[in-house]
Amino acid sequence: MTTQKEISRRRTFAIVSHPDAGKTTLTEKLLLYGGALHLAGSVTARKKERATVSDWMELERKRGISVSSTVLNFDYGGYHVNLLDTPGHNDFSEDTYRVLTAVDSVIMVIDGGKGIENQTRKLFEVCRRRNTPVFTFVNKMDRPALGTLELLDEIERVLKIGAYPMNLPLGSGGDFRGILDRKTGQAHFYERTPGGTFRAPVATHGGLSDPVVKDALSPTVYAALCEEMEMVEHAGVSFSPDDVLAGRTTPVFFGSAANNFGVQLLLDGFLGYSPPPVARANAAGGTIPVTAAPAADSADIDNANTADNNLIDPNFETFSGFVFKIQANMDPRHRDRMAFVRIVSGKFTRGMTATLARTGKAIRLANSSNVFGRERTTVDEAYAGDVIGVMGTDSFRIGDTLSGAPGIVYDEIPSFPPECFAYIHNPSPANYKRFREGLTQLVQEGLVKLYDIPSGHQKISLLGAVGPLQFDLVQYRLESEYNAASRLEQTDWTIVKRIQTKDGAPADEKGLHIPMGAKMALDKDDCQVLLFPGDWHMNFFIEHNKEVTLAD
Ligand code: G4P
Repeated sequence: MTTQKEISRRRTFAIVSHPDAGKTTLTEKLLLYGGALHLAGSVTARKKERATVSDWMELERKRGISVSSTVLNFDYGGYHVNLLDTPGHNDFSEDTYRVLTAVDSVIMVIDGGKGIENQTRKLFEVCRRRNTPVFTFVNKMDRPALGTLELLDEIERVLKIGAYPMNLPLGSGGDFRGILDRKTGQAHFYERTPGGTFRAPVATHGGLSDPVVKDALSPTVYAALCEEMEMVEHAGVSFSPDDVLAGRTTPVFFGSAANNFGVQLLLDGFLGYSPPPVARANAAGGTIPVTAAPAADSADIDNANTADNNLIDPNFETFSGFVFKIQANMDPRHRDRMAFVRIVSGKFTRGMTATLARTGKAIRLANSSNVFGRERTTVDEAYAGDVIGVMGTDSFRIGDTLSGAPGIVYDEIPSFPPECFAYIHNPSPANYKRFREGLTQLVQEGLVKLYDIPSGHQKISLLGAVGPLQFDLVQYRLESEYNAASRLEQTDWTIVKRIQTKDGAPADEKGLHIPMGAKMALDKDDCQVLLFPGDWHMNFFIEHNKEVTLAD
């Protein structure tokens, strides 16, 4: 298959949801369709599989939340699907945001009984900012759900996006009988399949006017359905694939992930309307010399040797990508670090040399893996849209660009200012080396930010994070992966800002009016920062120190 064809069949997406809405269950069912999992169909087997595929960190099992992302991929219906798993908990949102920079579309799972929940709203906002196309799966229709029109209205009102129901549920809870596919006009009858057997059998029948459909529904459900149909046909948004691609309309599918019902319609609809790998902005601008040897099948690539300097097309023949995640110690038996690279353009071949844009250094990408939960397989070739795990170098940082030609820099990874701060102490001086090594690696992963506060001849380490649960995770991982105990001491600071002077030289601390409660520290680049308990202290500082400015 040509490079262009390989790229065009890639679909790279993430599933987002409020915890408990059914993200894990839906992931498992999608994997079944791709033949990537073979489950016995019992809850126990499911839990066992879940432990080995998604929840590979002990902490995840202990807390019952997903804290680490994995990349899952499978082939289905001619497509090559890359599903990036995102952490589910509120506190790990920074990691989730990073994963969302690496996808081209998103499936948003909503609990039909609860509607749009807090975390869903926040994640949706990230998608909106990036104009990422969002597909919606309203899950748990086998449980009592909010009314169909109410749910659609809530999506439109709260998320401010057009909601186009691809199918309509035939009742919910005890009355749930299936869904009506609007495209084919056919009803798919629901059959309860505890544990979710593979490809749950569905009988399809004629549409609303079919007596089989009418007889299957209670008169109340049937009357409601007729009314809903009337409403969505006449008052609802019309369907436009362009609106979906632009993130203006979300196609909505109903179903029950646990019962593997409605999942195939979701998958087929998603693959049909979601985008192949999309072009990414080149923050460097300028000219890109095409120095790399043309790909063997470049004749098939319409725009080979061309690159709009501000936008890198996936079919641009030169390999390029960016690091969106770094994970240390994925295999507890080895001290390793894996950098996850989203390929933006061209083709990756194992052993190829790429330039790390930040340092200008050439790096041979010899150790490349496909990571499927705990499983790893060597990747010899990969294409734009794919994610590869690269090991064997400590040079990578989150956000780094790798490319086969100079002049490409991606600036895709947002940085969120920490809002919680805690001192971290090493209670056992004999363990200092392990403690420091662990802390350095976890900071490189982007789990937390590290600041040094000068104190006499010593420096005290301060951690900064978006949410406090990240501190627990640091402690847990220091202990389990580096055998280093630690002690945390919470602080009252909630804001950190860099100090900028007019000439770029460090500010003289003695010359600054720093309010009581605020503190100066150094960040990882040895730049001066100020920590404030709140806005009042920060505004006081700004008011009384006109010769310097504060920046994020
Ligand atoms: P999450 O990843 O979004 O946090 O949600 P997860 O899939 O873990 O699902 C949360 C709970 O909701 C699970 O129940 C799961 O079985 C249940 N669930 C998922 N989809 C459906 C559905 O379509 N219908 C119903 N009725 N329940 C659903 P649990 O009791 O926490 O776990 P388990 O013992 O069932 O595994």
